[in-house]
Amino acid sequence: AAGTLLDKYGRKITYIRLSITDRCDFRCFYCMSEDMTFLPRSEVLSLEECLQIVRIFADLGVYKVRITGGEPLVRKDATWLLRQINQVPGIRELVLTTNGSQLERFAPELQDAGVKRINVSLDTLDPLRFHEITRTGDIAKVLRGIDAALAAGISRVKLNTVMMRGVNDHEFPNLVRYAMERGIDISFIEEMPLGDIGHGRSGTYFSTDEALALLGQHFALEASTESSGGPARYWRIPGSDTRVGFISPHSHNFCDTCNRVRITAKGELYPCLGHNDAVQLLPLLRANPDTQQPITDAIMSAMGIKPKAHDFTAQMEAPQVVRFMSMTGG
Ligand code: GTP
Ligand code: 5AD
Ligand code: SF4
Repeated sequence: AAGTLLDKYGRKITYIRLSITDRCDFRCFYCMSEDMTFLPRSEVLSLEECLQIVRIFADLGVYKVRITGGEPLVRKDATWLLRQINQVPGIRELVLTTNGSQLERFAPELQDAGVKRINVSLDTLDPLRFHEITRTGDIAKVLRGIDAALAAGISRVKLNTVMMRGVNDHEFPNLVRYAMERGIDISFIEEMPLGDIGHGRSGTYFSTDEALALLGQHFALEASTESSGGPARYWRIPGSDTRVGFISPHSHNFCDTCNRVRITAKGELYPCLGHNDAVQLLPLLRANPDTQQPITDAIMSAMGIKPKAHDFTAQMEAPQVVRFMSMTGG
């Protein structure tokens, strides 16, 4: 690599999260409001521009790319982009976060394109509750999608469960069992206060410690030191391949080991999920079709505004960051 990305706290950035669309076929109530307006096509990065951004980051030492959305698989030709990214010199880890709605159809193509791991959001196993949470989703499709990904040979499928008191907390043991039956990992996530979703979030916050205590009554959890290069801390269940991860932005801040920045579908570079400061890459890309230096310079300058930490509090009533989670893909 021609360069290295170091922020002013000495953290090395080796991982980008690229949201390739703000659109989604679900409307999860903790992520979106009921009536979302989406970006017009002209304001969205083209797939070629996405690829160009990845190339520039790869030259700066980034080796892991996670494609997110919105729902990345609703973007036309998403698998073309994945295939191209996998061929960019320096990119060693191409991974995807999806709601699973289109996985049944795309699993073989994703495997063929070189996607190494897939994280699938699954907050409940109850079809009615699934419909209440996602507003538009069909759980049967998602469950078929998970099995299709495994059948296609993508062995590293991970489930993501946002923990919500009174919504899905009584299902945590069953979700772990579902993961164990398939030998896959599951991460439980503390909810974050992003986006004006049209209603408060207070009352639903559920901490990692409480979930560990709850799951400890059902499984012999053993703390593990393994990492997947992301924020999760893992526990193992003896006799099972399943690891139970916790992503604990509130109760166990992981910002001091942050290795990532995110790029929205609009081409904004956000150094932190929890802050509103961003650097606009799209106008630079469009003004400089033949040289990457201005974009490289802008990326380097963004390192100077990466904050030490997010300042989310578990006081969840008002959104603490105005943009929706579907803009930055988590
Ligand atoms: P891997 O560790 O590579 O498997 O990915 P991941 O678990 O980080 O990615 P995924 O897209 O599945 O995101 C799971 C949850 O982690 C989402 O709720 C994200 O918002 C959250 N997350 C990922 N990175 C960060 C981060 O830097 N800060 C915060 N606060 N949350 C993050
Ligand atoms: N807090 C925590 N996680 C969230 N996700 C979406 N919105 C939030 C939120 N407000 C999760 C999704 C998906 C992952 C990318 O982020 O469920 O699994
Ligand atoms: Fe779509 Fe994911 Fe947001 Fe749900 S959480 S609405 S699946 S982007």
